[in-house]
Amino acid sequence: MASVDVPVALLGYGTVGAAVNRLLTDSADDIERATGHRIRLVKALVRDPRKERDYPPPGGVLTTDFSEIANDPSIQVVAEVMGGVDPAGGYVLDLLRGGKHVVTANKQLVARRGAELFEAASEGGVQLRFEASVCAAIPVIKVLRESLVVSNVHRVLGIVNGTTNFVLTEMEAGKTYDEALAEAQRRGFAEADPSDDVNGADAAAKMAILATVAFNSRVGLEDVDYSGITAIDPLDIAAADQLDMVIRLVGAARLVDGQFDVRVQAALVDKQHPLAKVNGAFNAVMLQGDAIREITLEGPGAGGIETASAVIADMASVIGTMGTGFLQNDAAWRELPRLPSGDSTSPFYFRLSVEDRPGALARVADELAQREISIARLLQHQNGSGAALHVVTHEARVGALDDALVALGALPEVHAASRPMPVVSDRGVAELGWA
Ligand SMILES: NC(=O)c1ccc[n+]([C@@H]2O[C@H](COP(=O)([O-])OP(=O)(O)OC[C@H]3O[C@@H](n4cnc5c(N)ncnc54)[C@H](OP(=O)(O)O)[C@@H]3O)[C@@H](O)[C@H]2O)c1
Repeated sequence: MASVDVPVALLGYGTVGAAVNRLLTDSADDIERATGHRIRLVKALVRDPRKERDYPPPGGVLTTDFSEIANDPSIQVVAEVMGGVDPAGGYVLDLLRGGKHVVTANKQLVARRGAELFEAASEGGVQLRFEASVCAAIPVIKVLRESLVVSNVHRVLGIVNGTTNFVLTEMEAGKTYDEALAEAQRRGFAEADPSDDVNGADAAAKMAILATVAFNSRVGLEDVDYSGITAIDPLDIAAADQLDMVIRLVGAARLVDGQFDVRVQAALVDKQHPLAKVNGAFNAVMLQGDAIREITLEGPGAGGIETASAVIADMASVIGTMGTGFLQNDAAWRELPRLPSGDSTSPFYFRLSVEDRPGALARVADELAQREISIARLLQHQNGSGAALHVVTHEARVGALDDALVALGALPEVHAASRPMPVVSDRGVAELGWA
């Protein structure tokens, strides 16, 4: 097979950019044998070309002048691996409008500005691929967009943030939140400023992208209800263990009667559920749909080389399908409404600190029953002069549960109520026709 020389450029040459060049260089022969193309890095945009770098590129590759990439007609494929929304967004728009294919690892950019980016790609007649923006090495976007194009995926459950999963796993082993986060930073699983990871924003951006591709309707970051793990304390971990569960930061995207519902929250996950077995910095995404029942993908969700492997796979896919087919289209071809937040349903867990006197339990059950919330499991143990009640409900509306917790908080017998957490126990197998 005759080999085709393909000059490519990078926006950014940091952790991911340098790893892309390293992989392109070390695996050049393998890539050529597999694809028939010799992918060669010719330009990389950086802020400071004099900076000392891990895997320095050949002389002349680094530039601070974006026009050297945008105006070079020999460069048809560019990978954006610089991060941030500005100026990365403007650069990507220029490249797409100028007829260059773009591959990006930038989840915040795709989640915040997806609509205009895909419009620009369609104007330019080029592809915008973004595999590396969600779960790095796990090929979930390609599976959703290409392999599952006719499978009507209606539920996506994921552990899509490695930092928080590592912290929660360490807390299970006995560490406090602060100790676990410090360990994550020491081992390179958390940034010096881990805010976006621990507050759920990073996972929310990934779930917005996954929901958009799964449901073919634009889901922006503003459409995702999210919270993080900063309020989880060892008491929550111990309570989960007593119920044979673990705590995970779970992203859940569902289609409910033609409306989408996307949220990221710390959840109690049954130890028998596949997501409970995802430990350390690993990620997993579970896809459920009419034609596929259930597919779970699991693997490393971050890291320079892992992310670079997805960037290069996207480049190879672009090169192999340039100018042809549906991949130039925006995955979001319809507009579905968002499910009102209070109408979202799930089984929930919460904890109450109550006075240990006759009738207290009956009052609690009565407040819940008045809002059509039924109790699936109840654990009670002595807590000083009072009692701690651990309540797991059957499927309940978020709005009804919020009301119930306000009413419970006003009861004289109830001293305190914990924040409710969704419970992930069943896999919806009956609904998928397995029961
Ligand atoms: N690292 C991971 O594990 C991982 C995983 C998945 C996705 N991602 C995503 O991949 C992207 C890159 O991450 P990274 O870890 O490689 O970041 P990084 O190490 O901070 O590298 C960023 C690169 O972009 C360049 N850059 C930044 N702003 C620039 C500007 N205004 N003009 C010109 N160049 C600019 C920097 O130039 P200088 O070198 O001169 O400073 C640097 O080379 C981000 O979107 C990130 O979310 C990363």
